[in-house]
Amino acid sequence: MAAQQDKVVLGIDIGGTGIKGAPVNVATGELLAERVRLDTPQPATPEAVGRVVKQLVDEFAWTGPVGCTFPAIVHNGVTLSAANVDKSWINAPAQDILSQATGLPLKLVNDADAAGLAEAIFGAAKGKGGKVLVITLGTGIGSALIVDGKLISNTEFGHVIYPKDGIAEKYCSAKVKDDLDMKYKDYAVRLNGYLEHLQLLLSPDLVIIGGGISKKHDKFIPELKGLRFPVVPADLKNDAGIVGAALEAAATFGI
Ligand code: BGC
Repeated sequence: MAAQQDKVVLGIDIGGTGIKGAPVNVATGELLAERVRLDTPQPATPEAVGRVVKQLVDEFAWTGPVGCTFPAIVHNGVTLSAANVDKSWINAPAQDILSQATGLPLKLVNDADAAGLAEAIFGAAKGKGGKVLVITLGTGIGSALIVDGKLISNTEFGHVIYPKDGIAEKYCSAKVKDDLDMKYKDYAVRLNGYLEHLQLLLSPDLVIIGGGISKKHDKFIPELKGLRFPVVPADLKNDAGIVGAALEAAATFGI
């Protein structure tokens, strides 16, 4: 039992509307308790988010290491961008702020990187070599590049200039589809163009589509054509961020 406990990390996924978490067995990817979701405070400053993360830690009476996602560039614990979040995160020492708020060792990672890592170890890219690209379609577009099982962090392919004068996430995120009330068929045309552009830049061997919209993958993935790589939906769905954050923390803290 003690050995089992040693392999457990609390994974937390910070999003624009909700902060979700659960203890994760990092050897199996299994959630060991029902996830708990708390509302993201508004405005979502690092300090306010820190208080909610602490609340989540207390819900599980957690005293061990924590892995936490955030939807921005996270480099050496510092958040460097804020495309869809409160601008106060730009240049914030966010990892230290959240670690101090919880009083626990905490590793902060980009949300798409966490999801990608979880897919690489336990999901749709399990056991796959070569270049795997995970694209998460949500409010923005997140990306994770995994090369022979190793994550290359902070790729930010949602911010490539596509199609012409703007960034890709303003053209084909799930939010854009909703905002423009687009049919899946029309949305697939935009996504197809974006994936062709990424094909030109990266020649991936496999692309995995994540984010809430991937639940409806049968409505748009079959519409994609002219791509040299297979496109498949993510396996871990809502839990990918929580599991990936726990994995990153486990690697950092030697669990
Ligand atoms: C951010 C990324 C994030 C993605 C998905 C983008 O706007 O720049 O860091 O991974 O949204 O949340």
